[in-house]
Amino acid sequence: MPPLLVAVADSVFPNLDPARAVLSRIGAELRLASEPTPAAILGVATGADALLVTYAKITAEMIQQMPRCRIISRFGIGVDNVDIAAATTAGIVVTKVPDYCIDEVSDHAMALLLALARKIPSASARVHAGRWEMKAVVPIHRLRGSVLGLVGFGRIPQLVAPKAQSFGLQVVACDPYVAPDILARAGVEGVDFARLLKISDFVSIHSPLLPETTGLFNAGVFRQMKPTAYLINTARGPIVDEAALAQALDLGQLAGAALDVMEQEPPSKSALFGRDNVIITPHVSFYSEESLVELQTKASEEVVSVLSGQPPRNPVNPEALQRA
Ligand SMILES: NC(=O)c1ccc[n+]([C@@H]2O[C@H](COP(=O)([O-])OP(=O)(O)OC[C@H]3O[C@@H](n4cnc5c(N)ncnc54)[C@H](O)[C@@H]3O)[C@@H](O)[C@H]2O)c1
Repeated sequence: MPPLLVAVADSVFPNLDPARAVLSRIGAELRLASEPTPAAILGVATGADALLVTYAKITAEMIQQMPRCRIISRFGIGVDNVDIAAATTAGIVVTKVPDYCIDEVSDHAMALLLALARKIPSASARVHAGRWEMKAVVPIHRLRGSVLGLVGFGRIPQLVAPKAQSFGLQVVACDPYVAPDILARAGVEGVDFARLLKISDFVSIHSPLLPETTGLFNAGVFRQMKPTAYLINTARGPIVDEAALAQALDLGQLAGAALDVMEQEPPSKSALFGRDNVIITPHVSFYSEESLVELQTKASEEVVSVLSGQPPRNPVNPEALQRA
C-alpha cells in the first residue's frame, strides 16, 4: 500500500514540524501547496487522503477533485472557508480546533483589564515623554471588591473567572445558554444583560459573533454602563459599534475600553485612535508559541484519528462519518 498522503493547503506557521511529528505515527507524508491558489492546492490535494487548511478557501469544485480525501482539518476555530455541505456530500468529515488558545485569550483579557485599571499604557507613555507624575493617572480604584461582568460564559471566560477572582474581583456573567451549575461551580453569579451593565466596573465580551450579538454594544447599551466602567473585547470586533463607543467615551458614559478585535481588521482609521483611555492590540489574544504548536498538534491528531478509523474530537459535520 502506498504511504498515506496529507496535503497542506496553506500555512502561517514557521514550520510544520509539530504536524509532521503527529502524522509520523501513521507513517503519513506531508505535502505543502507551493501557494494558496486552487490549482496549487489541488496539485497536492488531488491524490491526498487528508487536507489540512488554514485560511485558503476550499470550494465544492475543489472537493469534487479530491476523491481519496477523508478529512479536511482546519488549523483554527472557524470553518467558514470550507464548503461544509459539499464535504458532507463527498463523505469528508471537517474538523476544527476550538480550544487551542483558551489560556492565551483569558490571559489577554486579564492583561487588558489590569492595564486599564492601573492605566499602564498611558502612564508609561508619559514617563517616556519626560513626565514623572502621579497626577496623570488619578483616579485609580482598588480591584478587590470591583465587579467584572462576563458577556458569554464559554471556554475562555470560564478561565477568566478564576484569574479575576484571584485579584479579589467579584464575577458575574450573562449567558442565556449556559447551565446554571457551571456558573455555580465557578462561583459566578448569573445575571441578565441589563443588570450586568448596571453593576459591572469591567465588562468583558466573550460571546460569539452572531446576528443577535452584532452591534450588541451600541449607544443605548453604553448609556446603561457605569461612567467609571471599562469595556474589554477579545471576542469579535463587530460586537461593538465603534462609532457609538467613541461617542460614549466623549460623553463620559464609560471610563475607557480595551480592544483586541475591531470592526475592520486591519482598521484604516478609527475615532478610537489616539485616546489615553483606549488600548488596542492587533488581534493577538490567541497567540503564543505554545498555542500555535497546540493548534498544529490537535489539527493533525484529528487526521490521525480519522485515517485510523477512530472518531475525531471536533467534527463540524459528524453526519459525513456515516457516509464515508
Ligand atoms: N481574539 C482572539 O484571538 C480570539 C481567539 C479565540 C476566540 N476568540 C473569540 O472569543 C469568543 C469566546 O470564545 P469561547 O471559546 O469562550 O467560545 P465558546 O464557544 O466556548 O462559548 C461561547 C459562549 O457564548 C454564549 N453565547 C451565545 N450567544 C450569546 C449571547 N447572545 N449572549 C451571551 N452569551 C452568548 C454561548 O452560550 C457559549 O457559552 C468568541 O467570540 C471567539 O470567536 C477570540
